[in-house]
Amino acid sequence: MTVAAQPRRATGSASIDWAPATRELHLRNDWISYALAVLENGALGQLYIGPGLARGSSYRHLVPDEFHGFSNRLGEPIALEYPTAGSGDYRVPAVSVEHADGSTVLDLWYVGHRIVPGKPAIHGLPATYVEDEDEAATLEVDLRDEPSRTAITLSYTIFRDVPAIARSARVRNAGSAPLRICSAMSASLDLPDADWDLVHLSGTWARERHVRTRRLELGRQSISSPRGSSGHQHNPFLALRRADTVEDHGEAIGVSLVYSGNFLAEAEVEPFGTTRVRIGIDPETFAWVLEPGAEFTTPEAIIVYSDVGLGALSEAYHRLYRERLARGTWRDRLRPVLVNNWEGTYFDFTEERLLAMATVARDAGIELFVLDDGWFGRRDSDESSLGDWFVDRRKLPGGIDGLARRVEALGMRFGLWIEPEMVSERSELFAAHPDWAIGVPGRMRTEGRQQYVLDMARPEVVDHLFAVLSDVLGGAPISYVKWDMNRYITEPYSLSLPPDRQGEFFHRYMLGVYALYERLTGAFPEILFESCAGGGGRFDPGLLAFAPQAWTSDQTDAIERLAIQWGTSLVYPLSSLGAHVSAVPNHQVGRFTPLATRAAVAFFGVFGYELDTTALTDDERQQVHEQVDFYKSHRDVLQRGRFLRLRAPFDGDRNQAAWMAVSDDARRGIVGYYQVLNRPVPGPDRLRLRGLDRRLSYRVSAWPAGTDELARANEGVRGGDELMQAGLLLVASRDEGASRGDFWARLFVVEAE
Ligand code: DGJ
Repeated sequence: MTVAAQPRRATGSASIDWAPATRELHLRNDWISYALAVLENGALGQLYIGPGLARGSSYRHLVPDEFHGFSNRLGEPIALEYPTAGSGDYRVPAVSVEHADGSTVLDLWYVGHRIVPGKPAIHGLPATYVEDEDEAATLEVDLRDEPSRTAITLSYTIFRDVPAIARSARVRNAGSAPLRICSAMSASLDLPDADWDLVHLSGTWARERHVRTRRLELGRQSISSPRGSSGHQHNPFLALRRADTVEDHGEAIGVSLVYSGNFLAEAEVEPFGTTRVRIGIDPETFAWVLEPGAEFTTPEAIIVYSDVGLGALSEAYHRLYRERLARGTWRDRLRPVLVNNWEGTYFDFTEERLLAMATVARDAGIELFVLDDGWFGRRDSDESSLGDWFVDRRKLPGGIDGLARRVEALGMRFGLWIEPEMVSERSELFAAHPDWAIGVPGRMRTEGRQQYVLDMARPEVVDHLFAVLSDVLGGAPISYVKWDMNRYITEPYSLSLPPDRQGEFFHRYMLGVYALYERLTGAFPEILFESCAGGGGRFDPGLLAFAPQAWTSDQTDAIERLAIQWGTSLVYPLSSLGAHVSAVPNHQVGRFTPLATRAAVAFFGVFGYELDTTALTDDERQQVHEQVDFYKSHRDVLQRGRFLRLRAPFDGDRNQAAWMAVSDDARRGIVGYYQVLNRPVPGPDRLRLRGLDRRLSYRVSAWPAGTDELARANEGVRGGDELMQAGLLLVASRDEGASRGDFWARLFVVEAE
């Protein structure tokens, strides 16, 4: 079940130069430059982000000569690193505060900076990291508002191995009166033009993270979440791309927030035609009181720049998030093929039924059996028992330990579902601690999925959950945990906070969730954690730091999954995408798709099944066995390879999609082609591959293995040049399509000879 990761590729260097004469700072690696300067008036200006510029040159002239300070700056598109409101810049600010006297003006002037090798940790928040100081360099710039003695430190890390920069900010109250932070973004970018399309990932439950693209327009355009989690509706990510940018060509800039709570990602175009982009905690649902001497740190934003298309932008995020955001034992291990009982049984199971399912799964080569919701308290439906984390012996007479041991005796590992942050009104926990459920005293609490949310801002709640869940996880051989979160937060309020600090609630909730994750993953380092939130409602970089994989969506239909997995792959690596084969008719859309198509989609991620294995026919069991064997033999590439998108399920008539995973050394690739509806009399069509080596010869084989015309037309030895420049045939003859039917998929494996 454990295989070592591929070795890291060491490349060039990451440098940060300070030019005292021109007061410029230049961050650079093999791909990109990011340049800033102390302007004449002392503000920190932004000069450039883009392809690498020569070291040692000045780029100061990129700031307009006529700029002499804020007094004559009204309305001018000056580019700033951390803009404030109230002194002439009317665009959206990066930070806004309220001083003790009620005023809100903040003038941030450069005080000094430090350049250090590596990357310092961000206390209490998930963040990217390095394992060796050579992997990155970090710049910290100190800014100060003298009248209020507000000190802000901007942090920039440039990575050696990816075209990425991590940014965050630290606000310190060095004055003698309390300071109220109304907003503090993680990053702000001032770009010199507005000729961009805005790309974001949006949807809702069961159709999360579809790619949405629109032209940038004058004014503000944003996505956000006020829900207490990053949410199904929007993802904490946006990208700008040129109109002609495609997967392997053109400019794109991505900003992604390493955070799981309320966020804002926004682009503002002002009348001069420049663009300001900002990303950070959602200001609408945030305020933070800083007492004298106290400090507040924002989450981290990751900026990626690519001038070779969206594909390279995604690859940078994939590599960074897979290798330097995800942590722990499971970061580099290949993930087990699992079967989860949720869609197979829902709440209706017994130990014997589960074991029967596990036995069939074991016979097919499946490695991990996951018991989902319904094992605790008296939970026969979603109406009760959340919070009562003790086993229901009516269903599991031998307890979790008894079941887990019997599963292990079959030769499989055992995994368990939990939903720590919730409490049902019908539960012992609620009876004992009704005040632990989030709500405003004297007001009705809104139920969601018949449950309340626990106040994770209260340390005693986190302590309690750590204690009871440690008992569960320590009391049985548990190898995997699925951590769910099935509703959003309403009536936000914490009894632990005074009235003037209620604005801190949502962020403190997230800090509590992160603290619990930190403690549980620390106490149980061998357990593989998968995050989940009613499917993909909290699929974000913040949780990837603790749980290296996430349940992508409750939508398990293969065709719907094409759009979801495609969109998710804009930012997130295959090693993070939980993808399962479920039964037909599909439980979300009632669609019948072939078993092979369901697997061909789910292979591109962390593969598993989510159905009653005992209901499979002999023929289906055989197919499942072959699927598991296929996945295992290519799992290294399908989980850790480069992922290249070939044909978008959003393009044209939305009737097809294609993508591929390829090994780092370009010697093995797995290509997936999917056709939604069959169409009569198809014309010739060729699918050009990417990421191979033009000089190598590849043996092409089709999956499922067959002797049909299309397989015969493609199988054999082909040059990498041919596969990338001419492509694979997608139609072998006009008649061949007649046998396909709807919802058809075909994989091709290409292996260097
Ligand atoms: C929502 C998850 O996404 C499902 O996979 C399942 O775990 C249910 N919750 C259980 O309540």
